[in-house]
This record gives sequence, C-alpha cells and structure tokens, in this order.
Amino acid sequence: MSTVFLSLVLSSCTGDESTEPPDLPVPVTPPTEPVEPVADDFDAAAKYQTLCAPCHGTEGKGDGPAGAALNPEPASFADPAFWAERDDAQVRKAIKEGGASVGKSPIMAPFGNNFESDGQIDQLVSHLKTFRSE
Ligand code: HEC
Repeated sequence: MSTVFLSLVLSSCTGDESTEPPDLPVPVTPPTEPVEPVADDFDAAAKYQTLCAPCHGTEGKGDGPAGAALNPEPASFADPAFWAERDDAQVRKAIKEGGASVGKSPIMAPFGNNFESDGQIDQLVSHLKTFRSE
C-alpha cells in the first residue's frame, strides 16, 4: 500500500517536471514594436484603375474621361518631367492629403482614407512609376 502511495507521489512529481518547457538556447522575445501589417491583399494596380484612372487615365497619361474637362488637367505619370520635378514624399503627400497640401489644385482630392497604411500608398506610388515613359 505504502509502495503504491510512494510511486504515485513520485510519478506526480516527475509528471510536473516533464511539463516544464525545455530551456531554449536562444531566448524568444516577442516584438516590442507593432509590425506594419503586410498588405498582401492590396492590389495597387486595381486600386489605381478604380480610384485614379477616371481622371489620370488607364495608362497614367492624365487623359481619363473624367479629367478631360478639368483645369488644371490631371497630372501625367507618363511624363518624365513629372518625376524629375517631384520626389516620392511629395507624390505620397498629394495622394494622401490632396493637391492643395503640396501647393497644387484642390481638384486633386485627398485619398488617404482609401488606404489602410502608408505602405499601401507607397505601393501605389511605385505603381504610378510604371507608367513613366523614357
Ligand atoms: C477628380 C479627378 C482626379 C482623381 C479621381 C484623381 N486625381 Fe490626381 N490629380 C487630379 C488633378 C486635376 C491634378 C492636377 C493638380 C494640379 O496640377 O494642380 C492631379 C494631380 C495628381 C498628382 C500630382 C501632384 C503634384 O505634385 O503635382 C498626383 C501624384 C496624383 N494626382 C495622384 C492621384 C492618385 C494616385 C489618384 C488615385 C488615388 C488620383 N490622383 C485621383 C485629378 C484627379
């Protein structure tokens, strides 16, 4: 009887020890900064065609049907001069906060609310550059 009791006590002790996590050679620490969500389902090209092409044109030439009557005309992303005169920060700001925020026409509305992160706007800016002609 006492043997059974003793073996029960022993097995419960060793049982507890075996549930301890093993010592890891490298301490695993969770990231302290929130990681920017990977916009894997974000399609910059599709977003451009929906939001921007009506004015800026399907190929970015500034010749969309809704832009034809505008003054000033929508910017042409195909024009190398457009890119020569602006850096990414200005282009990003114009998209996010509107033309007026970079000293341009307020007809270019702020589109920041259409994006979940600045990273998505960066992807859109990269897409605009694909329209650039040499
Ligand atoms: C209602 C028509 C319209 C739509 C829709 C529109 N834009 Fe524009 N956009 C304009 C006009 C007009 C200008 C020219 C402003 C000027 O030259 O003063 C412009 C200018 C710009 C510029 C240049 C700003 C600068 O520094 O000169 C960028 C970049 C731009 N648009 C990006 C976009 C993107 C990206 C979208 C879609 C998310 C978009 N636009 C949607 C009308 C539009």
